[in-house]
Amino acid sequence: MTKMYMRGRKICSVDETQNKNTTVSVKYAKPKTNSSTKNQYGSESEGPKKIKNTTKGINLPDIKNVEKSVLQCIIGQDKQVRQIITAIYRAINFKTIKSNVLIIGNSGTGKTETIKQIAKQLHIPYTIEDATKYTQEGYYGNDVTDMIYNLLDNADNDVEKAQNGIIVIDEIDKKAGHEEHDVSGTEVLKSLLKIIEGTKIKVSIDEFSDDTIDFDTKNIIIIFLGAFSGLDKIRDKRLNSNPLGFQAQNISTEEKQKSRFLKQDLVAYGMPEEFVGRIDTIIEMKKLTKEDLSLILTKSQLSIFKRYRSELGKMGISLSYNKKLFERIAEESLALDTGARELSNTVNFIFENIMYDILANPNKYQKCTLYLDIVHDNTKYKLS
Ligand SMILES: Nc1ncnc2c1ncn2[C@@H]1O[C@H](COP(=O)(O)OP(=O)(O)OP(=O)(O)O)[C@@H](O)[C@H]1O
Ligand SMILES: [Mg+2]
Repeated sequence: MTKMYMRGRKICSVDETQNKNTTVSVKYAKPKTNSSTKNQYGSESEGPKKIKNTTKGINLPDIKNVEKSVLQCIIGQDKQVRQIITAIYRAINFKTIKSNVLIIGNSGTGKTETIKQIAKQLHIPYTIEDATKYTQEGYYGNDVTDMIYNLLDNADNDVEKAQNGIIVIDEIDKKAGHEEHDVSGTEVLKSLLKIIEGTKIKVSIDEFSDDTIDFDTKNIIIIFLGAFSGLDKIRDKRLNSNPLGFQAQNISTEEKQKSRFLKQDLVAYGMPEEFVGRIDTIIEMKKLTKEDLSLILTKSQLSIFKRYRSELGKMGISLSYNKKLFERIAEESLALDTGARELSNTVNFIFENIMYDILANPNKYQKCTLYLDIVHDNTKYKLS
């Protein structure tokens, strides 16, 4: 309700780049329903809250400890996790070095989860925004303001915290304009430049007064995420041709894989140059292998398999299985090309009948044996 009221009023946007004040009318926003309104402690924002302004500085935990904790959850992306943590620490510690990060990676490689885990460790508020939700109207500033209110919600309306928060903009690749007439996507990107460049946006203090404060976006860390499918082909084309346009035959696949994505690849993909020019760090998530997926099941603190085992344990039921089961689950999940995302579906399928049996027969069983075939046929288990 608060948000509807706050967003329903006129908001004055001070555009520093043009050094003039522009007043833009903000439409009434629909009440939010998605999970990105949760704050970093996992609680939903509840009703009207007066905006706070704390003067506390940010005390960051030891970077090595944060890395260690995140790696207990995120598997197979050690280099990438370090790159992302460094980019975030760099942005917080060295204000003169801008840090707009772009993370490229296939579905289910851990782009979103890595940021969530880091933000949790650092107690930094964040909001995850879906770029596809933003329309060309965003060009006039409306939607950019929505992002700020979401961030404020997740910072429990603490302006100081929110001004040093993280805005994650997901699915940014969907805003690439490949055709000349496809301007809506690229216009949305250009509207985001306002936040990236550092602007002051007036936000309402509370619903009972007309007072506003300047919300400064200059210290906000912006992290863009996208799968950018097909970008590797653009990179390969670049690597394969020498400056004279002849095909260079002597570049090995290994070398190609080692080669980083360059900004020119993103421009060739259809991202506007003004946008790409403001990206300071490009991080490429690794495609997860069968071994990585097995390790996620056995080692990651986020493992859904471990959660089932622990829940059964609480009911006094021990789980028995051959270690090869993890390989089978990984193989099955890999087939769908959605990385670790598919692991939950496969594991939920495995336990579907088992959970029914257990719930239908309380206190009857002490042991559950899983046979390897259960990956394809979820009746292949024994409860005793
Ligand atoms: N490297 C990883 N290690 C451990 N778990 C992972 C990893 N990657 C993904 N997961 C798990 O898979 C699920 C999806 O991950 P995430 O949301 O980070 O994917 P994503 O890369 O953002 O993909 P998408 O592009 O589809 O949004 C999460 O529940 C997460 O726990
Ligand atoms: Mg994601």
